[in-house]
Amino acid sequence: MLELVDVCKHYGSTESDGGTVQALQDVSLSVKEGEFVSIIGSSGCGKSTLLEIVAGLVPASTGELRIHGERVDGPNPRVGMVFQEESTFPWLTAQANVEFGLRAAGVSRVAATKQAREMLHLVGLHGFENHYPDQLSGGMRQRVAIARALVTRPEVILMDEPFGALDEQTRIVLGEELLRLWQGTGSTVLFVTHSLSEAAMLADRIAVLSSRPGRIIELIEVTLPRPRSSEIIGTPAFTAITGQLWKHLQREARRSAGLEDVRAQQQTAEADSLTLGAS
Ligand SMILES: Nc1ncnc2c1ncn2[C@@H]1O[C@H](COP(=O)(O)OP(=O)(O)O)[C@@H](O)[C@H]1O
Ligand SMILES: [Mg+2]
Repeated sequence: MLELVDVCKHYGSTESDGGTVQALQDVSLSVKEGEFVSIIGSSGCGKSTLLEIVAGLVPASTGELRIHGERVDGPNPRVGMVFQEESTFPWLTAQANVEFGLRAAGVSRVAATKQAREMLHLVGLHGFENHYPDQLSGGMRQRVAIARALVTRPEVILMDEPFGALDEQTRIVLGEELLRLWQGTGSTVLFVTHSLSEAAMLADRIAVLSSRPGRIIELIEVTLPRPRSSEIIGTPAFTAITGQLWKHLQREARRSAGLEDVRAQQQTAEADSLTLGAS
């Protein structure tokens, strides 16, 4: 349904040397209709860039994006997006935030009011319609953002670390809520996270990106049964997946933390001291 074919992205540098930053390299990914795909990788590896390309907000340097086999080159009304922070308009109430996308899509005022109210109810924000974002908790604000993205029933929902600014417990319960809302919608989801357990709990498939330039180094099938709840956290099948993810990510994580040679140096030093001890 959604296909990335050999996508590369270079950004022109703002530095005076005029160099470029390569954010993505040869990313190819085919996503089935209704599939939930998580994208995981270390900070700066190109995850947001990838979503922005799918949303049509930034163009790929080379390669292409296809939706239903058709090449897409610009913003796409079939795609809804939720960002990490400040996904809501602070000057609009929760109700007006959710109505916003509907009105932009040409839905009448009366219908938009009704649909927005139902959607807020569905995400558990009944009674908070007239609150402004700064009167809500971080978790509630992200539920408003999710309501706003889902209310237009987009075919594709892009989520860029939507729970990244929240504590882990809140993140887990909102993940459960998201699964509940997503089930039965038939929407295809691309969900960026840097949390191993979030990816394992939510996704049908996990694309593991290398550190920059981001390449897909592994695609992991998550065969855990659905419907899922947070009860699966810690089960052997669940831990097997997070363990598998960590196996692929740890080298990239060391690299992005600037530790790539430290372990090799330590091993050499240990080997040297053993040799000295022996002599
Ligand atoms: N608009 C931009 N102009 C120049 N460089 C950018 C721009 N957006 C992102 N980058 C660079 O591209 C790389 C990937 O960024 P990003 O996609 O935001 O990574 P992630 O979301 O995985 O943290 C980073 O090195 C970042 O600095
Ligand atoms: Mg990002």
